[in-house]
Amino acid sequence: MSFFHRRNENQSNARIHNGAQLITVMHPKSPISEQFRTLRTNINFMAIDHPIKTLALTSANASEGKSTVTDNLAIVWAQTGQKVLLVDADLRRSTLHRTFNLDNREGLTTILTSRAHTIDLNTIIQPSGIDNLSLLPSGPTPPNPAELLSSQRMKDFLKAARERYDMVIVDVPPMLVVTDTQVISRDLDAVVLVVKQGQTQKLGAKRAVELLKMAHANLLGYVMNDVVSDGSAGYGYGYGYGNDGDDE
Ligand SMILES: Nc1ncnc2c1ncn2[C@@H]1O[C@H](COP(=O)(O)OP(=O)(O)OP(=O)(O)O)[C@@H](O)[C@H]1O
Ligand SMILES: [Mg+2]
Repeated sequence: MSFFHRRNENQSNARIHNGAQLITVMHPKSPISEQFRTLRTNINFMAIDHPIKTLALTSANASEGKSTVTDNLAIVWAQTGQKVLLVDADLRRSTLHRTFNLDNREGLTTILTSRAHTIDLNTIIQPSGIDNLSLLPSGPTPPNPAELLSSQRMKDFLKAARERYDMVIVDVPPMLVVTDTQVISRDLDAVVLVVKQGQTQKLGAKRAVELLKMAHANLLGYVMNDVVSDGSAGYGYGYGYGNDGDDE
C-alpha cells in the first residue's frame, strides 16, 4: 500500500527491534510475575462498579516501560482463563510484533483504513501461543496515527473487540509526546499511568494526569516501574492508586 510510509527514525531504537521482555512467561514464579498478578487483582477490585473491559497503560514520556507492563499484564490476565486481546495501538513505535515474533503486514491500521463495510477480525488477529491470549499487531505505520485512533472506525473496532473478548488491553504511546493516547483514552474503560522511578519527572507525570483528565479518561492510578540501578535484579514494580498527580 503506497500511502503508508515507514518512518526511519522509529527504527533507530534497539528496543523496538528487540521487543518487550515477557518475564511472566520466562519466570512465572518470580516475585515480578507475582507483582503483575497483584496489579491484575487491584485493577479487578477497581472494576466493581464500572466493569473494565478495555484498558491501556500509558506514561508521560517514551521508554518508561509501557509495553513491558502492558504485555506482561495481558499474559497474567489470560492466565486466569479470561479471553484477552492485546492490541498494539502505538502506531509510531510499535513493538508487539517483535515481542511475539508476528507478521506485521496486517494489523490495527489495516482495520482502520479498510474501505470494506465489514472486516473479519479473525483474519487479522493472531494467536500468541499462550492460552486465551490473542494479538493484534499495529500493522504498517500510517502517516496520521492520531486521526486513525480518533476515527469512528476505531470506536467500532473497540466495540466489536469488547463483545468478543473478556478483556482488551491496548499498548499506546506516551502522553507528552503525541496526542494519540488522549484521543483514544476517552473510548477506553480505564487507563493506568506507568511511572519509571528516577526517570519520570514529577512535572511530567502531573502533566500526563492533567491531559488524561482533560480527555475524560478514567485514570485508575499508577504503576511504578523501577529499574534497580545496581544491575543485579533488573526489575521491580510497585503500584499506587489515587490522585498522586495532584500533589505539588
Ligand atoms: N523494570 C524494568 N527493569 C529493567 N528494564 C526494563 C524495565 N522496564 C522496562 N525495561 C526495559 O526498558 C526498555 C523500554 O521498555 P518498554 O519498551 O516497555 O517501554 P515503552 O514505554 O513501551 O517505550 P516506548 O515509549 O518506546 O513505547 C526495554 O528495553 C525494556 O526491556
Ligand atoms: Mg512501547
